Amino acid sequence: PSATTSASASEKPSGSKITLGFSQVGAESGWRTANTKSIQDSAKSAGYDLKFSDAQQKQENQIKAIRSFIQQKVDVIAFSPVVESGWDTVLKEAKDAGIPVILTDRAVDSEDKTLYRTFIGSDFVEEGRKAGQWVVDKFKDSQEAVNIVELQGTTGSAPANDRKSGFQEMIASNPNLKVIASQTGDFTRAKGKEVMQAFLKAHKDIDVLYAHNDDMALGAIQAIEAAGLKPGEDIIIISVDAVKDGMTAAAAGKINFIVECNPLLGPQLMEAVQAVVDGKEIEPRIVTNETTFTSEQAKEALPSREY
Ligand code: AHR
Repeated sequence: PSATTSASASEKPSGSKITLGFSQVGAESGWRTANTKSIQDSAKSAGYDLKFSDAQQKQENQIKAIRSFIQQKVDVIAFSPVVESGWDTVLKEAKDAGIPVILTDRAVDSEDKTLYRTFIGSDFVEEGRKAGQWVVDKFKDSQEAVNIVELQGTTGSAPANDRKSGFQEMIASNPNLKVIASQTGDFTRAKGKEVMQAFLKAHKDIDVLYAHNDDMALGAIQAIEAAGLKPGEDIIIISVDAVKDGMTAAAAGKINFIVECNPLLGPQLMEAVQAVVDGKEIEPRIVTNETTFTSEQAKEALPSREY
């Protein structure tokens, strides 16, 4: 992040190790595994003492972890909030204790922007728009209704809310594009499979699946194949993330289009931590750069994919 020195710097004595408390959402997806590794590796390279806590997809566990970091008087707290709402009280506690907070990956809906120093992560609305635009282009000549089913991420999470709204915004331009069913698959493969099975039972005429992440798409592919259908042909599939397993399915033609969401946030986080500890101002929003992949592009990119 770009940083400028602030007057009220409260620097740590040089030579002492920075302690970073990090509360992770869980281990629900390939994306999350890559994100955790990036944070752990980058903290190690930076020489920070990382206190890592896995919330197992539960907000109450994250609140507990943040309170424990406050008690331990860590230098900086960072976390990826499982859901958007309900953070004001604990963030105020951190602020009152004088411990700066950095959000990574997911946003909170707190109105008071002084409760955290920066938010590093993707633009999820834009990701949804990219997915929607691809569907609009793909079906631009279709004269009939295109039936879409949607596998949403964790209910109340920023990526589920934003990927849904961005997608909806784009497909609204063509009244033939209809979301006929939309349900959460909690960003997991198992739930993606289960919900897709239910969709296939309830609807005989599904044209498109929009999954908010690769893992749910991969679970859904299992359900589609078990129903005797060809993923990528009988049902067009769009997902988000571009982790290795997703890219492998795309290269095999089972996923038609993937919107990338970059999990490698560790280096930017460590840079922000250092800037905050050095008493520097940092940008309040740091957006990660991302691309998209068709099946052909996935085939090309796969051999050099890092995660
Ligand atoms: O917040 C990012 C999302 O969380 C990823 O798209 C998903 O795979 C993960 O679980």
